[in-house]
Amino acid sequence: MKLVFATNNKHKLDEVKAILGNRVEVLSLKDIGCFDDIPETADTLQGNALIKARYIYEKFGANCFADDTGLEVEALGGEPGVYSARYAGEECCPEANMKKLLHNLTGKSNRNAQFRTVIALIIDGEEKLFNGIVKGRITEEKRGDSGFGYDPIFVPEGFSESFAQMSSEQKNSISHRYRATEQLSDYLNKTSDSF
Ligand code: IMP
Repeated sequence: MKLVFATNNKHKLDEVKAILGNRVEVLSLKDIGCFDDIPETADTLQGNALIKARYIYEKFGANCFADDTGLEVEALGGEPGVYSARYAGEECCPEANMKKLLHNLTGKSNRNAQFRTVIALIIDGEEKLFNGIVKGRITEEKRGDSGFGYDPIFVPEGFSESFAQMSSEQKNSISHRYRATEQLSDYLNKTSDSF
């Protein structure tokens, strides 16, 4: 089975290919000649994942999936959530995003947070959503320098290191993206005989 993954991010493509294995040929946007800047204008993660998947399905007629991820902080009512990439402004960087988040949590004892990845899959016009969640807490200050985004200020439940203090193998084996992709994989394994 061929599926387009609506991304050109090599790291994400490699991770997904490793989980889905040989039964699925995963194509990137570049592989299908799509160089469009797909607008992510929804105010939910599932909304943005669906926008991207529907765009590819409607324009290229290809079975496909798309993802969107956010960090949801309990004491901030789920912020930055869908706005995680641009929390401190459209042109901002991870440093500014983390600084803003730590500032907004100043004096708050509830540091509970979760990363959530939503994957939207479209096969022959039928849409399915998968959610991958990793719960944890926000640190008081940055720790470690591996990974990307909010990794230095997020400690997953059951661990004492931040994501940025873990090896990429360790992080990837418990991450939100891994969990969402595992669900996609299980679904494809169960249903692929009918495609
Ligand atoms: P995307 O939907 O995968 O592009 O993720 C949106 C934003 O969420 C990124 O720009 C990061 O700020 C944040 N993010 C997503 N995944 C991670 C992660 O694994 N670690 C830290 N930050 C992440």
